[in-house]
Amino acid sequence: MIMAWVLLVIVVGSVLFHVFNPWWVTPLASNWKSMDDTLDITVVITGLFFVAINLFVVYALLRFRHREGGPHAKPEPDNKKLERWLIVGTSVGVAALLAPGLLVYAKYVNEPHDALLLEVMSQQWQWRFRLPGPDGKLGASDPRFISATNPFGLDPDDPRGQDDLLVMGNEVHLPLGKPVVVLLRSNDVLHDFFVPQFRSRMNTVPGQVSRFWFTPEVPGRYEALCAQLCGVGHPDMHGFVVVEDAEHYAAWQQALVSFAVASKPPPAPDVAANPLVETGRQLADAKGCAACHTVDGSPRVGPTWKGLYGKDETMADGSTEKVDETYLRNFILDPQAKKVKGFPPVMPKLPLTDDEISALVAYIQSLGGPPAAGEQKAQR
Ligand code: CUA
Repeated sequence: MIMAWVLLVIVVGSVLFHVFNPWWVTPLASNWKSMDDTLDITVVITGLFFVAINLFVVYALLRFRHREGGPHAKPEPDNKKLERWLIVGTSVGVAALLAPGLLVYAKYVNEPHDALLLEVMSQQWQWRFRLPGPDGKLGASDPRFISATNPFGLDPDDPRGQDDLLVMGNEVHLPLGKPVVVLLRSNDVLHDFFVPQFRSRMNTVPGQVSRFWFTPEVPGRYEALCAQLCGVGHPDMHGFVVVEDAEHYAAWQQALVSFAVASKPPPAPDVAANPLVETGRQLADAKGCAACHTVDGSPRVGPTWKGLYGKDETMADGSTEKVDETYLRNFILDPQAKKVKGFPPVMPKLPLTDDEISALVAYIQSLGGPPAAGEQKAQR
């Protein structure tokens, strides 16, 4: 008896929770309303079966519970009529669950011909983006070309790649209302590029180019997530997609650097003074440090490197430590050994040689000390 009432409360509670729960999907900002519709159909069908089956169990528990002189359920091991109805009912239910998804998927793999191309490059734990230049084509790439100055691994001899536009940060812009075909590559492990408001998404798989398409239909700045568990920094692997009108988009694109320009060694005047600094800068780029550490003072996952050297850092336990060469060296060698106050302990242990660590430390030192102790930099 009590089981029947408990089941009834679960059924009614589930339906009420679905109707009133505050955690429904984010507002749609792309052309993929059909994905939401498919989800709705799935919820309705599974919901109807859930309610019907559980109410039947409640009825059976109440009607046929054991009592003196009460009715007995008649066993029917071979009821052809009932079996036919169950087969037809479940077949229709399963077909109704699968068919809408297949129709949407057919559209999903049928890319529009006039679409913009956008390459998304994933790496623990950051996103990079590449757009075709004026020729409208992306140049060939290969992992063996990947280096500090060529993080996308573009073929330096492919003329189609010379004008490709590179976005080194984690934010890309897209024009409103224009279909985009997204090509995805991974530099290390499985990731998944996912902007919830666009609904469409795809895994990035090392060694292959996966793809999907969508049309952004609502202007805004959307957060891109990584939707595959890809290591300790996975929750911090954020990116941003800004959807804006054609004019703003053109202005943003204008400021991007082409591969031909980016792959030339930068004419930095201080390189001659201390080549180690430049090596450190390239290493920081190649190892993905910039995903978590800025050099302009703005906060990210980890402390900014601007003004870090020589600073008194507060640890999670309240103690302070001076950020000097020894501190940085130890931290890079074993990032989990100490916890810095206000920052998640997510820094990965990178396989770096002693010389590489020296270069990184020199680079961090070159970015200056704290304002009050500005005198102590440039001692090398
Ligand atoms: Cu990349 Cu999770």
